[in-house]
Amino acid sequence: MDNKMPDTNQRGSFGSNIGFLLSAIGSAVGLGNIWGFPYKMGACGGFTFLLVYLALAVFVGFAIMLGELALGRKTGFGPVNAYKAVSKRFKWVGWLAIIAPFLIMTFYSVLGGYCIYYIVINLVGLFRGVPGSETFGAMLTSPMLQIGVMILFMLICYLINRSGVDGGIEKFNQVGMPALFVMLVIIIIKAWTMPGAGEGLKFMFVPGYAVKGGFIEETPSLLSVLATAGGQMFFSLSLAMGAMITYGSYLDKGENLPKNSVIIVVSDTIVALMAGVAVIPAAVANGIAQGTPVGEIKLNGPGLLFSTLQDVFHNMGAIGGIFGIIFFVLVLIAAISSAISLIEAVSVTFIDRASAKGKEPSRPRTVTLVCAVITLVACLVAADGLGSNGFAPWQFFGMGEDAVKGWNDCWLDFMDVWSEGIAMPLGAMMMAIMIGWELKPSFFHDEIHSGYNGRIDGFWSFCMKYLVPIAMFFILLVQLDSFFGFGWF
Ligand code: PFF
Repeated sequence: MDNKMPDTNQRGSFGSNIGFLLSAIGSAVGLGNIWGFPYKMGACGGFTFLLVYLALAVFVGFAIMLGELALGRKTGFGPVNAYKAVSKRFKWVGWLAIIAPFLIMTFYSVLGGYCIYYIVINLVGLFRGVPGSETFGAMLTSPMLQIGVMILFMLICYLINRSGVDGGIEKFNQVGMPALFVMLVIIIIKAWTMPGAGEGLKFMFVPGYAVKGGFIEETPSLLSVLATAGGQMFFSLSLAMGAMITYGSYLDKGENLPKNSVIIVVSDTIVALMAGVAVIPAAVANGIAQGTPVGEIKLNGPGLLFSTLQDVFHNMGAIGGIFGIIFFVLVLIAAISSAISLIEAVSVTFIDRASAKGKEPSRPRTVTLVCAVITLVACLVAADGLGSNGFAPWQFFGMGEDAVKGWNDCWLDFMDVWSEGIAMPLGAMMMAIMIGWELKPSFFHDEIHSGYNGRIDGFWSFCMKYLVPIAMFFILLVQLDSFFGFGWF
């Protein structure tokens, strides 16, 4: 390793293992769990999807999680400097792991802003009710409103990251995660007591029910189930984004990395399932009560949270506003706890670089700069309103309507393609090749066994050498195909 030791004062560290765990779980639990997972599970075969997801989480997700935490803790650096410290050939992968979180933040902040807006409208309209579809449409066509709430969301994250690892990130998660859990339980209880909720549970758990019920047109192929589950699992576990490398670099040497990795993967999956059994039954039960044909109830896309679910709260009558507030506060906490890990992954790079060059790094100055640049680029995504305002990428680049594909239909998807679609699977594949074939898994033996003396090496080595690179290569191809419409699959 050829870098100087980082300046630990400016970098910071977690005060306790539980603080680390809650922060890592906070990073993992986010919009992906509450909104991506339930729909994808229903649309991609219900229980079959869940089994594929769990298998991928064990053999691919867990392996990469352990690799990232070990890489971060061994080097004591964030992604860019960590890769640089262990491999000259793979140091470019570290850059992928800061470009990707930067791009994700440009739309995650916009969606976080939407949550703030929905808390406010539910507060203002308490006991009167606020209809979802009209509110959503009006918000999307108002660029200034979306920019305003996005800035507010960024300001909250900025204040947390600026306060440091134990003083900001850990403190927020120590309160936020238990609160999120309690609120989720309240929403589940409410959802399950709505007549018709069982139809929603069937959508999620019964294989083929989504097609039979008319929610989706055709049964997805096994290939697409694999790729959808893999992509979702990666995003949901915050992998290949530098976040877990960064959090690992703040962790005490005596802590047990394999055990922590298992806890993060299991908790994230449990919360995704809990969110699913709250969100989908509520949406379906409400649709049925309103006389909407079952197959026409919208369970996909941003509309699920901001239109369909808001309608659920609206139709609950006087108490709906209270559930609306609880729900959107829950989603906001999930969004903040993920966003601060993304901001941290970008910021730590500059803090590490300064100390590696022998300069005095400044956390407040770095976080200010990182948040300011994210906010600036996010204005474009916010003002675009998911392609509602006439300057979506295809219009911006002067393309015709027939050229509209997943990568250019709105600025949110544009940012998503490069980050989640390409950088993430590519980065994970490269990391596995680096660890499995260049450095060899034994390079991390001492790191993994500091705090753990059980068996893991054979399993981890097999995953890193074979399973992860193959799975990631395949996921990368399918993601490219779906965004650019190559028609390969
Ligand atoms: N895991 C988060 C979610 O499920 O919404 C998103 C995310 C956060 C991805 C942090 C990557 C990351 F580094």
